[in-house]
Amino acid sequence: MSKIVKLISNNAGNITADSVEEYVKAGGFEGLKKAFTMTPTAIISEVKAAKLLGRGGAAYPAGSKWQHLLEIPEFPKYIVCNADEGEPGTFKDKLLLSQEPLRVIEGMIIAGYVFNSKDGYIYIRGEYASIQKSFQKALDHAMEKGYLGANILETDFSFTIHIMTGAGAYVCGENSALLNSIEGKAGRPRTKPPHLAEVGLFKKPTLVNNVESFATIPVITQIGGEKYLSYGTKDSGGTKLICLSGHAAKRGVYEIPFGITLRDIIYDREIGGGIASSKKLKFFHLGGQSGPCGVPEQLDTQYCYKALRTAGLAVGSGAIVVMDESVCVIDYLKGVTEFFIHECCGKCTPCREGNQQLYKILCKFSDGTGTQDDITLSFGLIDTMTKTSFCGAGQSAALAMSTCLTHFKDEFTAHINGNCPAGHCF
Ligand SMILES: Cc1cc2nc3c(=O)[nH]c(=O)nc-3n(C[C@H](O)[C@H](O)[C@H](O)COP(=O)(O)O)c2cc1C
Ligand code: SF4
Repeated sequence: MSKIVKLISNNAGNITADSVEEYVKAGGFEGLKKAFTMTPTAIISEVKAAKLLGRGGAAYPAGSKWQHLLEIPEFPKYIVCNADEGEPGTFKDKLLLSQEPLRVIEGMIIAGYVFNSKDGYIYIRGEYASIQKSFQKALDHAMEKGYLGANILETDFSFTIHIMTGAGAYVCGENSALLNSIEGKAGRPRTKPPHLAEVGLFKKPTLVNNVESFATIPVITQIGGEKYLSYGTKDSGGTKLICLSGHAAKRGVYEIPFGITLRDIIYDREIGGGIASSKKLKFFHLGGQSGPCGVPEQLDTQYCYKALRTAGLAVGSGAIVVMDESVCVIDYLKGVTEFFIHECCGKCTPCREGNQQLYKILCKFSDGTGTQDDITLSFGLIDTMTKTSFCGAGQSAALAMSTCLTHFKDEFTAHINGNCPAGHCF
């Protein structure tokens, strides 16, 4: 039986992405039409029943977030789609933005209808310059056909979507930094509370959801929350777009139902197809650079929020970087830490200094001067960074290192003894 289930990516490559006619022929905008026959409360009940957890990485329950915003009496309310997709190894929103733009737009329109919003914003990362253009085309076509603008489908509801763009900073994917960036301020995270549902864009109540989360909404309104849930597990509703990269034989984006195993994902012929070389799997890095690393002994873990969390792993953004035994763990972690040094916004000391110190320690291991004390010091630094950094970037920057210190203790010790098992260092 196929392990791929396409609920939100079935049009990709099969229709002209910005053609409203082809999208409608393929069943597009049926979710919106159904939503227009429902009350906002009924739509939110379906989102809750679907157990949709935000697909941007933090896995916050979308139904609770929507309910909270609905209960706030202040207007206007803004709808914001987070298309910053800055997590390395993550390119699934790119697939939706470029090949399923009308589905993302449909999800945002439904959200606009639920909160009686007039304006939605999609923040597309600076590096996706060509996608900004193609997405604008899809918006224009939706407007021409009466799905956006005044009196959508001859109802009283009017809604417009504006494209905003960043200059390519990872931290601008954090929802409050993203709103600051839209407002023309420096892209740095805000102090919370107040929460964005209360004081969001232009200080007004705001919904921020990920591209994939919005793309899922039309499916949920169309088939119902319970049906959507049934594609996944009891706690992780539906499907997830995953991004396989690194040494996987078949790298790419796949839509899979929650509940299949990591082994299925990496080795199934229809998905990862195993390791590209004749070498063995050494580890996999889940959810982007800010996520944990796992080892072959964990391959039979189900890919769903609960099982991965129990195993010390995470879904995160959906990134799965596969690494074979040719890779030196120290070398890999140096790359991860360099990324966080580069992307740190400088606002808080634990992240700004912590990443620099971790990098220095890793360099000691790769040049043969690392010691047991450096391992002890690393655990202390990681603990401080995790507990005291101002935003998720610093709080999770060292997750890869802490999981590798556990799984690859012997490899750290080997480096202390002047031996790099992968033959990279010294
Ligand atoms: C440093 C950092 C970067 C983030 N980058 C992204 C991103 O690129 N895309 C995204 O959707 N969420 C990102 N997030 C999560 C957002 O803050 C937020 O949780 C998400 O947009 C909410 O949407 P969701 O509930 O649909 O996942 C990031 C968080 C942090 C701390
Ligand atoms: S943890 Fe601190 S320094 Fe790092 S990105 Fe967040 S706010 Fe900026």
